[in-house]
Amino acid sequence: MSDKMTPSADQLKIILTQEEIELKIAEMGKVISNDYAGKELVLVGVLRGSVYFLVDLTRKIHIPFSLDFISISHYSEQSETAGVVRITKDLDLSISGKHVLIIEDIVDTGLSLGYLLRNLKTRNPADLKICTLVNVEARRIVEVPVEYKGFDLPNIFVVGYGLDYKEKYRNLQFIAEFNRP
Ligand code: IMP
Ligand code: MG
Repeated sequence: MSDKMTPSADQLKIILTQEEIELKIAEMGKVISNDYAGKELVLVGVLRGSVYFLVDLTRKIHIPFSLDFISISHYSEQSETAGVVRITKDLDLSISGKHVLIIEDIVDTGLSLGYLLRNLKTRNPADLKICTLVNVEARRIVEVPVEYKGFDLPNIFVVGYGLDYKEKYRNLQFIAEFNRP
């Protein structure tokens, strides 16, 4: 493995182990299966970070659902804190009248999800809720309602389980605090 794939020990501090994450996801899948039983559920994964969480979560959901993806990007580094976001890959499915659950890796400032909620609401879903593996309340700029959350973390930068630093470290099976160089 190249050293680019493996961050050095002084850059990484494990915050959530693989076992903790697996247990939590199993719990979340059970709750979601109960809450959406008998409803037309559409899971919307926000590319790319949510993919690892989404795949594991869906394996713990025991009711029928449809799966779709949306991809968003900030117009520029500067606009990242202005909430100026655009859709780079839209949904393929119609969500009108459906029970939509957005799946995210992390809710941080809430800017991306604030935009996504406003946009998806115009498509008249029966309801629209958010499920995230990690929630960082301390960095919130826009208030977004998070219905299902795996873990609350303090104001630290984390990688692993889908979360990246410059597109790397998504494949780590744990979540670690990352000291950015
Ligand atoms: P927002 O600030 O809630 O809009 O989150 C925007 C995006 O920033 C998230 O979907 C992640 O891709 C990324 N992000 C935010 N905090 C972290 C972090 O601690 N580690 C890695 N990515 C993060
Ligand atoms: Mg993301």
